Amino acid sequence: MKVDVLLGLQWGDEGKGKVVDVLTPRYDLVTRFQGGPNAGHTLEFNGEKFVLHTIPSGIFQGDKMNVIGNGVVLDPSVFKKEIEKLETTGYDLTKKLLISKKAHLILPTHRLLDAAYEAAKGASKIGSTLKGIGPTYTDKTSRNGLRVGDILHNFDEKYKAAVARHEQILKQFDFEYNLEEIEKEWFYGLEVLKRFEFIDSEQYVNDAMKADKSVLAEGAQGTMLDIDFGSYPFVTSSNTVCAGACTGLGIAPNKIGEVFGIFKAYCTRVGSGPFPTELFDAVGDDIRAKGREFGSTTGRPRRCGWVDLVALKYAIMVNGVTKLIMMKSDVLDTFDTIKACVAYKIDGEEITVFPYSLEGEVEPIYVELAGWEIDMTKMQSENEFPEEFNAYLSFLEEELEVPIVIVSVGPDREQTIERYNEE
Ligand code: GDP
Ligand code: IMO
Ligand code: MG
Repeated sequence: MKVDVLLGLQWGDEGKGKVVDVLTPRYDLVTRFQGGPNAGHTLEFNGEKFVLHTIPSGIFQGDKMNVIGNGVVLDPSVFKKEIEKLETTGYDLTKKLLISKKAHLILPTHRLLDAAYEAAKGASKIGSTLKGIGPTYTDKTSRNGLRVGDILHNFDEKYKAAVARHEQILKQFDFEYNLEEIEKEWFYGLEVLKRFEFIDSEQYVNDAMKADKSVLAEGAQGTMLDIDFGSYPFVTSSNTVCAGACTGLGIAPNKIGEVFGIFKAYCTRVGSGPFPTELFDAVGDDIRAKGREFGSTTGRPRRCGWVDLVALKYAIMVNGVTKLIMMKSDVLDTFDTIKACVAYKIDGEEITVFPYSLEGEVEPIYVELAGWEIDMTKMQSENEFPEEFNAYLSFLEEELEVPIVIVSVGPDREQTIERYNEE
């Protein structure tokens, strides 16, 4: 069987964790293919709430196997916290979580470097989550990284060499740090990590496909944060797009099945960088309050705005999205009008194709639609959808040319409505 991919089409936090959890019963294997603890994926069910950073969101639905792929960067201290929190609530993952030997390790000094680089950037900082993502991927591509598989071979020697190299770089910055303290926590984390099986995940995933097992690949971040196609340089350091699932898991492009593209009924961004439809008024504040738009990883308030179809069309194109999933429709329940950006005005010219750069003045051109002003959070089927909401869905499907197969009307697993259901 092929691998279905679920990924974000905006600037992250679209609700990937919730939907992966909802879809997991249909799959044998759930995998993560890029990113690391910069991600925060929230799941809610049976009155409980969990935020996952490195661990795939398929762990709560029965005994499905979960794999952390080679494209992920893993911080043992964050991993330890995640595992311990799950264990205290009764979830033992040792038998259902496998880790790629080729996944790169985030070292304590990677986190320090992240902080030093960001501080040095001053006003032009990226707004990184400071989890060490950029420096770890930099070491990977400059062929200096340490991988999970290294833990089993002369690790101390390799670790010391990497730290010495990083400390040399840190000397160039006016940056104080206490390495010993964070190292202690990190090495405890390493012991927790060692309780898990390290595998050649590319072989494992391909063998599973050959044995007719179904695989879901869970993206982190979103397309507009992709290192190649996002709003560079205000991006993360991995390929968040569909191609990242091929390199981050070791699966061939012709083995990709459905590509689920997930987006919010509006749009958010956390951290710095351009955001054409950002709202600086009471409407933006209202969306933030109703959508509880505060970062799952850092707690930072998320910037909020209307849905941006120029960016969404671009994201659908580079990912080859076959099915759309719209999240957080309920957050717009009280608005009398909803806006959707259909073009940008740059230097007096109206464009509908996503441009090279969003720096400078970008004026969003909006289409206004009637709001539905009805509480949708308890709805169970699309038959209950108000007329204005159906009109919003039809408008989006016509513009985006891809069907919206799931609509989410609340954070809980149950608040999920499927459309075009053939079963
Ligand atoms: P992810 O990073 O893509 O997994 O998304 P996050 O978990 O960072 O952010 C999504 C937030 O929205 C979380 O707090 C979810 O619990 C919440 N959420 C998901 N779907 C819905 C929805 O349909 N309605 C509302 N109101 N909240 C939702
Ligand atoms: P999930 O998977 C939203 C943003 C940061 C910053 C930029 C670079 O929960 O959707 P990094 O730490 O990668 O160096 O930060 O990317 N960012 C995210 N924004 N959701 C995320 O993940 C993000 N991961 C990174 O805020 O602007
Ligand atoms: Mg998130």
